[in-house]
This record gives sequence, structure tokens and C-alpha cells, in this order.
Amino acid sequence: MASQFLFESTTPSLYIQVLEKVVLVSGIVMGFMELKGIHLKYSKFNQGSSSGVQLSSRTAMLIFYLPSFLIAVFFLFCKLLWVNASILLEKLGLLQISISLQLHQDAGLRFIILATAVALHFLKRVFEVLFIHQYSGGITMSTTVIVSFLYSFSSANLLYAMQISEGLTSPSVDLMPLGLVLFVVGISGNLYHHYLLSGLRKKGEKGYVLPKGGLFEFVVCPHYLFEIIGFLGIAFISQTAFGFCQFSFVFLYLLARSLSTREWYVKKFEGFPSHRKALVPFII
Ligand SMILES: NC(=O)c1ccc[n+]([C@@H]2O[C@H](COP(=O)([O-])OP(=O)(O)OC[C@H]3O[C@@H](n4cnc5c(N)ncnc54)[C@H](OP(=O)(O)O)[C@@H]3O)[C@@H](O)[C@H]2O)c1
Repeated sequence: MASQFLFESTTPSLYIQVLEKVVLVSGIVMGFMELKGIHLKYSKFNQGSSSGVQLSSRTAMLIFYLPSFLIAVFFLFCKLLWVNASILLEKLGLLQISISLQLHQDAGLRFIILATAVALHFLKRVFEVLFIHQYSGGITMSTTVIVSFLYSFSSANLLYAMQISEGLTSPSVDLMPLGLVLFVVGISGNLYHHYLLSGLRKKGEKGYVLPKGGLFEFVVCPHYLFEIIGFLGIAFISQTAFGFCQFSFVFLYLLARSLSTREWYVKKFEGFPSHRKALVPFII
């Protein structure tokens, strides 16, 4: 069953196999902590905190995302360099393998598409940090370091897991086209709802108001819903077990954070519309 959808149900690397379990367990633990009120200290869950060294949210979020963008670009650059160098060597008769054949190998092409998608995902984040979001506060240095490390580490390992899938039997069901559609829907919907959030504050304002417009009429965190859709797209593009574990982490964490966020709105805003769910309209 798994071989229909994944490159190989067991990855050839023990390191990646262990990491897949660690990512899954971390998603469960971090989701559980969010539900228990032990939040990652940023945004509305860092209000009024003065503990530790605080960075402005804009600086901290750049540190969150920039390394992952650079990692994805580096992987992409190395792959394209290797492909071009091999084509040249092949033309000169110094390399036996047919590179055109290799490039058409499923995993080789997927690697390029996946690395491009990851780079675009983080480039969009950097763009939003610089030009869209209207932040009100700061983020502790410890949260900044932890989150930046987690993003960089998981992006690098997602691409590594894809790279070592080259040469493995391709899954019989190709989820990449659907993955690309989900990825585009995910990043567009996420961007649109971030734009709506940014319109809630005039320049210099720091308060919180009840969001409106788009899917905010139905859920408190539509931007998280689209983030999850985007990561499902990334998992479908990669069709590696690691890609699906990373998706599970994002889903569990953002599900729990959206439930905490709804609770926060209920407490803060009298007359909060009770039909407004946390993440999925009419359901959760
Ligand atoms: N992949 C993952 O595991 C993961 C995890 C977390 C987040 N994310 C991504 O990061 C994005 C941002 O996440 P986030 O948790 O920072 O979102 P957020 O708490 O909703 O904040 C997003 C922006 O909107 C502002 N904002 C939020 N609620 C507001 C309100 N009621 N009134 C006025 N302004 C408001 C925030 O200002 P303040 O900063 O002043 O609160 C911030 O500038 C998400 O959409 C998601 O794509 C991904």
C-alpha cells in the first residue's frame, strides 16, 4: 500500500528513519504543550513578557525564516550545478551515465521542484515579514533560536531525504501534480489572510481586534489552515515518508495553536461569535 504513494516505505538511511519518528513525536509533544497552555513565546502568547533577551518580532522572524530560504537555495544551486557539470562531462565523453536519462528519473526532477517550492515558501515568509505583517511586540532570543533551528533542520532533512530517494522505485501513484496545486492554493490563501490581518492595525497601533473578511468569518486561524494545505502539497510533491512526517508535525502543532488562539479570543472578546471555529470551517 505504502509503495503506491511513497518512494519506499522504508528509507535506506537509518538516520532519516529515526528522524521521521522524532519529528512525529515532537509534533505530538508540541501540540500537547500548546493545549496545556505552554506556548511558544511569540505573538499574542508573548504579550507583556519581559523575560530573557527580547528581539523585535520583525528581526526575530527574519532569523526564523532566512536560514531555511538560504538552505533551500543552496541545495537547488548544488543540484543544478551538478546536472550542468555532468551534461558537460557527458558531451566531452568523460562521463558514461546518460544525464538526460538521470534527470528524467522521477526523484531527480522532484528534487528540483521540491527545493524550488521550499525556497519559495520561505521567500514568501521573508517578504511578509518585511512588507506585510504589522507586529506589536517582541520574541525572546531562546524562542528565536529554537524556531530558526527547527525550520532549518527540517528543511535540510526534507531535501536530504528526497536526494537519497534517487534510484529507488518510484511510487505507482504520482501525487506531484496534486501537490503543486495544493502548494499554490496553500501559499496564496495564507498570504491573503496575512494581508487581512495586517489591515487590522494602522501603522503604530499595537492592539488586537477580532479579525474579519475571508475565512476569518468562519475560523480564527484560516492562515494556519492554508499553511497546512501548503505543507500537504510539499509532502505530495516529495512522496517521501519524511515529507509526510513533517506535514503531521505542522498539522498537529497548528491545530493545537489554533485551538489555544480561539480560547484566547473567547476570553478577550465579549460576545465572540460562538459559531467561529478554530481551524476548519463548521468542523474544528
Ligand atoms: N509551519 C509551522 O509549523 C508554523 C508554525 C507557526 C506559524 N507558522 C506560519 O507563520 C504564520 C504566522 O503565524 P503566527 O502564529 O505568527 O500568526 P499570528 O499570531 O496570527 O500573527 C500573524 C500577524 O498578525 C498579527 N495579528 C494576529 N492576530 C491579530 C489580531 N487579532 N489583531 C491584530 N493583529 C493581529 C500579528 O501581530 P502580533 O505579532 O503583534 O501578534 C502578526 O503580525 C502562519 O500563518 C503560518 O503560516 C507556521
